[in-house]
Amino acid sequence: MIKKVAMADLKQVVAEVIARRVQDGETIGIGSGSTVWLAIEKIAQRVAKENLKISCLAASHASAFAAERAGLNVLPLISERKLDWAFDGADEVDPQLNLIKGAWGAMLKEKILAQRSEKFVVIVSEDKLVKRLGKKFAVPVEVVPEAAFIVQEELAKLGAVDVRLRKDEKKGSPFNTEHNNFVLDAKFKNIEPSLEAQINALPGVLDNGIFINRASEVLIAKASGVYSLRRCAGQIKEELILSPDKF
Ligand code: A5P
Repeated sequence: MIKKVAMADLKQVVAEVIARRVQDGETIGIGSGSTVWLAIEKIAQRVAKENLKISCLAASHASAFAAERAGLNVLPLISERKLDWAFDGADEVDPQLNLIKGAWGAMLKEKILAQRSEKFVVIVSEDKLVKRLGKKFAVPVEVVPEAAFIVQEELAKLGAVDVRLRKDEKKGSPFNTEHNNFVLDAKFKNIEPSLEAQINALPGVLDNGIFINRASEVLIAKASGVYSLRRCAGQIKEELILSPDKF
C-alpha cells in the first residue's frame, strides 16, 4: 500500500535528489520557487560537508540571496560562464514535459537560464502534473507597464478568457518584476505550443511563462517514488529513480 506523503515532504524529497546530482567543479543554473530554495539548502550542506567547489547563477534575487546566505558561490547572471546544467521548479507540467512557470514572477530570467543550459532539469511534486497546460494556472506575461492595457486586449484576441493585472497584495499596487515590469495573468482554456511565441510577438511583452520543449528532464516526487521523465526519440521515457522506502 502507498502511504500518504504531504506535498511539503515530497518537495523535500525531490530537492534532495537534485542536490545529490551536483558534482565538484560544476557551474549550475538555479531557478526560483520553494522547491528550488529547499534544494539550495541541501546543495549548500553537501558543499560544506564534502568541500565541493561549485558556482551558481540564479534566476532571481530571492534565489541569489538564498544561495549566497547558504554559503554558495553566486556569480552574476551577466557572467558568460558556461553552465554545466540548470534546475528549476514549475507550476504545471503536461505529459509532453511542457511547463507553465512564473508564480513568483521570475519567468523571464528563468527562461534565459533554461536557454543557456543544454540540460534543464525540472523538479516538482506530483500536484504539478496536469493533463493539459492551463488546467489550473493562468499564463504569466511580463509586460512593460506602458503596454499593460493594450497587451491585455491582445491576449483576449489570442483566446484568453480572463486577463488580470497581478497585484502586490501587501502594497495594493501592481506587482513589479525585478525589471520593474508588470505581470498579466492570462487564463486560456486551450494552450497550443505556438501560443508561447504568439504572446512574445506582442509589442511590450518581455516573455511569458509557457515553456514548450525546454525541459530535458522532469523529476517528479510522488507518494509512490521519485520518477525521472525524459524525451527520447519523440517518446516520453519514465523511470523510477527512488523508491518510497528510501525517502
Ligand atoms: C517561479 O517564477 C516559478 O516558475 C517557480 O519555479 C514555480 O512557481 C515553483 O513552484 P514551487 O514554489 O512549488 O517550487
